Amino acid sequence: MALEKSLILLKPDAVQRRLCGQLITRLEDKGLKLVAMKMLQVTKELAAQHYEEHVEKPFYPLLEEFITSGPVIAIVVEGPEAVSVVRGMMGQTNGRESAPGTIRGDFGLSRQVNLMHGSDSLEAAEREMGIYFKPEDILSYKSSLDEWVCASDEL
Ligand code: RTP
Ligand code: MG
Repeated sequence: MALEKSLILLKPDAVQRRLCGQLITRLEDKGLKLVAMKMLQVTKELAAQHYEEHVEKPFYPLLEEFITSGPVIAIVVEGPEAVSVVRGMMGQTNGRESAPGTIRGDFGLSRQVNLMHGSDSLEAAEREMGIYFKPEDILSYKSSLDEWVCASDEL
C-alpha cells in the first residue's frame, strides 16, 4: 500500500448544480486529505491536454463543449491508494449504470454530464497534476487526524 495523490475535477455540472460542497464533503468524509484546490475555466487547449486519449474519438466534440461550458474546480487529494479509492467513489462513467452510493450513481443520470473526473492511474495522476498545478501549489502538511484515518503500516 502507498500514499498516493489523485487529480480530481468537479466538472461544470457540479458547479452549476451547486453540488461542489457535497462532493468535497464526500472526499473529506472518506478520510482523503485536500492538498491543492482551485477554480478555473477550462479552455479548448486545456481540454485537449487533459483528455488527450480521447481527442480523436467521435464523442470528443461534445466532451470538449461540456468541459469548457463553465468553471470547474481542480483538486488534488492524498491518501492510501487514493487513485483507486477515488475511482471507486465516483462509480461508472455512466450515471445510469453507476451503483447507488457512488457519486455518479447518487447524483447523475448521464454518460457525459457526470460531475467528477478522477485520475485512472498513478501515471495519469502525475500528468494531470502537472496540467493544473505547479509543484509548489501542491501542499504537504500533517493533520492531527492522520493517525485516526489509517494505521502507519498502511502508508
Ligand atoms: P473521466 O475521465 O472524466 O474521469 O471519466 P471516465 O474515466 O469515467 O471516462 P472516460 O472513458 O475517460 O471518458 C471521459 C469523459 O468523456 C465523456 N464520455 N462520453 N459519449 C460517450 O460515449 C462518452 N464516453 C465518455 C464523459 O464525460 C467521460 O467522463
Ligand atoms: Mg477517464
